[in-house]
This record gives sequence, structure tokens and C-alpha cells, in this order.
Amino acid sequence: MEKLTTNYLGLKLKSPVIISSSRLTSNIENLIEAEESGAGAVVLKSLFEEQIMYHINVLSTSSGYPEADDYISNYMKLHSVDEYIGLIKSAKKKLSIPVIPSINCYSSSGWLDFARNISDSGADALEINVFFMPLDRKVSSSDSEKIYFELIEKLKSRVSIPLVMKIGPRFSNILYMVDQFYMRGVEGVVMFNRFYEPDIDIKKMEIVPASVLSKTDERRNVLRWIAMTSAQDIKIDISASTGVHSGDDVIRYLLAGADTVQACSVLYQKGISFIKNLNQDISDWMTKNDFSKIDDFRGKLNWLNYESPTIFERTQFMKYFSSVD
Ligand SMILES: Cc1cc2nc3c(=O)[nH]c(=O)nc-3n(C[C@H](O)[C@H](O)[C@H](O)COP(=O)(O)O)c2cc1C
Repeated sequence: MEKLTTNYLGLKLKSPVIISSSRLTSNIENLIEAEESGAGAVVLKSLFEEQIMYHINVLSTSSGYPEADDYISNYMKLHSVDEYIGLIKSAKKKLSIPVIPSINCYSSSGWLDFARNISDSGADALEINVFFMPLDRKVSSSDSEKIYFELIEKLKSRVSIPLVMKIGPRFSNILYMVDQFYMRGVEGVVMFNRFYEPDIDIKKMEIVPASVLSKTDERRNVLRWIAMTSAQDIKIDISASTGVHSGDDVIRYLLAGADTVQACSVLYQKGISFIKNLNQDISDWMTKNDFSKIDDFRGKLNWLNYESPTIFERTQFMKYFSSVD
């Protein structure tokens, strides 16, 4: 479907639909299925900072117990950074669509050189799945934000492929953050990651995880921020994530100004081949509305282009729902 072609991070994608980072993208069979189903690109399961640091520590120290060292090195064979790099290389060999590895991190320290190994393994871009949990009440929001900027500066000095920041939805000023990413040379931003959240089971009186998979109406806060961010005069590509459960959801994000749209939960529920349905739905909608390419409608309803942009700024219900007492 030539009409679904789009650009992302300087790469030409045959569809704006990307399979986002999760266990689904941790093996080559699934990656091949994603390409065959029409994904525009694949984002690999994140390699976690803990895994990288563990690898570094194991390589640089010996426990003094040969059996323990053997056990650890066997474990590392199965779960190591090398295995991850192997997945990138095999994906690059077997797929024709862009392959984007992902690193999850929460500090800006020792693991950074591994980002270079990953980027040197033929990857097309690198996604940084980053979240610093503010646990110290004495640290101000601007000091917390600085950690992101320092991380980017260090990464940029080591990595030559396009860098994408996958961020969460909570900052004092999201537009400022994205602008600062752009100023530091970041090529793309994923808005937003959806994090693990704790809930309380009152029968057992225990903390339990909230639903791991998203629902479609979780897209609305994301839509707002994509519509606002894509209206800025900055050249940073936007990939939408959270709440994509149908072709209609993909279209909504494109109308708000996203360059690409990532799907995860829906593929857990309906299988990777559901990407075909997403592409078909976008194509049918484009035909019905006389659009021959994605750029004909991308951002048509963003903060800049929509006739009443204040709708994106509104947060209080008072005016809209004054009839609801
Ligand atoms: C089981 C599961 C595992 C995930 N693992 C990762 C991961 O390793 N790295 C990452 O950046 N995001 C991860 N995510 C987040 C997804 O990539 C995605 O951003 C999030 O689920 C929101 O999209 P959705 O509404 O389409 O599910 C994971 C999500 C799920 C459900």
C-alpha cells in the first residue's frame, strides 16, 4: 500500500504503524510476522539498565567461586547484552523494515558505552525508554529534568544513529521538555510510555498491579499533547503510543500530528497479524476521504490547524458541562 508510506527519523516507512517495544518484539519469529503483517518498523523489547550493569559487573569482577562464576556466565549467555545485539543483527539480516532497539534506563551513568555497541550493530535508530522516578522530596522538578538532558548529551556524544526519547506523560511542561530534547539533537519522541501502576485489592489488603494492557480511551491525554507538540515549530518526529486499539485510533493520532503510531496491547489481545487490519482501515478511510497520502491529513486537527485551538487548552469542565450539575 504505497499510499501509507511515511517518513520517520529520516527513514522511509511503508506504514505509519510500528510494533512497539514489549516481549512481543523479543524474538525473530515475531519480528518477521510483524513485517509480513505490514508493520512500518519494529521496536525491540527494551534492554534494561540492570541487565547492562549486571553484564558490566560480571565482566569486570570474579566472585572467587568458580562454580558461581560458571553459573553467572551461563546465565549471561542466555540473557546478555550480546544476545540482544545478536537479535538486532539477525533482525537486520532478515527484515527489510527499520529495526529500532530500545534501552530502558533510570540513571545517566556507567551503561552508556553499551549504547554505542548497540548503535554500531546496524540498528536504524535507538529508542531510550526513560523514566526517573522522583523519590526525593528535596529534589526540585528542574533538577529532576536536568537528568534527562545530561543523559541525552552523553548519549549524543556516543551514538551516531537517530535517537528517540520514549517518555512518560507527567512533566511540569511537556512542550519545554520536547523543545529541550530537540535543542540537544534528539530526532524523535515517543508520547507516551505507559508504566506499571500499583493498585490496592481491598479484599486481600494487598498491593496489586493495575491492568498491564491499555484501553482505547487512554489515548485522549496523549492526543492532546501530540496535537500541541506537533504544532510547534521544531523538527522532531513524534510517535504516538498508548491506547491504539483500532485503525480509527491510528487515524486520530495522525490527524493530531503524529508521524508514526505504535501498537502493543491490541497485538497482545488480537495477535501481531492485526497490523494488517490497522493498515487496511487507514487505507479505506483515506480512500473514503479522498486522501492519497498520509501527509494530506497529518496534523490537520492539531493545535495550529484546528479552527478552535483553545479546545486543547481547556482542562476545566465548567463551561462545557455547565448543564451537568
Ligand atoms: C507486557 C508489556 C511489556 C512492555 N515492555 C516494554 C519495554 O520493554 N520497553 C518499552 O519501552 N515499553 C514497553 N511496554 C510499553 C509499550 O511499548 C507501550 O508503550 C504501552 O503498552 C502503551 O501502548 P499500548 O496502549 O498500545 O499498549 C510494554 C508494554 C506491555 C503491555
